[in-house]
Amino acid sequence: MSVTTSDSELKARHRKMWASGDYPRMVETFLLPLGPRLVEACDVRAGQRVLDVAAGTGNASLPAAERGARVTASDLTPELLAEGRRRAEAAGLELEWTEADAEHLPFEDGSYDVVMSSIGVMFAPHHQEAADQLVRVCRPGGTIGLLCWTPEGMIGALFRTMKPFAPPPPPGAQPPPLWGGEDHVHELFGNRVEWRTLTRDVLEVTAFAHPQDYARHFTAYYGPTIAARANAAREGREAELDEALERFCEEWNRGTADAARFEKEYLVAVGTRR
Ligand SMILES: C[S@@+](CC[C@H](N)C(=O)[O-])C[C@H]1O[C@@H](n2cnc3c(N)ncnc32)[C@H](O)[C@@H]1O
Repeated sequence: MSVTTSDSELKARHRKMWASGDYPRMVETFLLPLGPRLVEACDVRAGQRVLDVAAGTGNASLPAAERGARVTASDLTPELLAEGRRRAEAAGLELEWTEADAEHLPFEDGSYDVVMSSIGVMFAPHHQEAADQLVRVCRPGGTIGLLCWTPEGMIGALFRTMKPFAPPPPPGAQPPPLWGGEDHVHELFGNRVEWRTLTRDVLEVTAFAHPQDYARHFTAYYGPTIAARANAAREGREAELDEALERFCEEWNRGTADAARFEKEYLVAVGTRR
């Protein structure tokens, strides 16, 4: 698919959104376990050519490089790649860091043994285009591995909570948490991937004493929440969104009022590219 002006503008907005707030801080606070879980599920081995799509700060790329794989970390947002590069240097790891839109990957057909994405490619707005790219750059017999928030889990519910406040989605865009549904994955990949693993698990988050601390964390650091709040502000509805987020975090708290605990469901899909 060729890149149109409106698509470039859309991706520029997305890039700005993901560079806003402090996503690296969210990773360090509670998301770090996800990368190694995906790398383990993909059974990444030394010497393999691995592409991490929508890699952000390299949450999955770094553990793959630690196993001796030759890793390319690609993402739309250069600010996040820069932070990933710093983390890799501190850990003494060498990776390639490439700015790339998941819907137009600048890599040769069949050039990777493993193509993976941890809560990443799900945020590219055109799901079929992105899925087609993952298949294209993976060699036949190679592995495609995805870890995505589910529609029924906490982040699926967060997107439903934010929807009435967020800017209207661009034409043709689909909601990110759809990628966490088994049926959607089957529809996107058809018979091009034979899925070996399609399992749901949860990320437990205990980093916040009170549920409202988690709501504030989203408001301060999470690009999609910051974008929804900026849109709400234009309509004078920030307080309404803040209240909705506080209620949401209270509803999803599985701990106590002073020791919050959240369970965030995700789908792990790992398969062989036919
Ligand atoms: C929730 S973060 C996940 C980052 C990382 N994989 C992790 O596990 O922490 C979502 C990432 O998707 C990236 N992203 C969003 N839209 C994208 C697109 N169209 N192409 C490539 N990356 C994209 C963002 O820049 C961001 O780094």
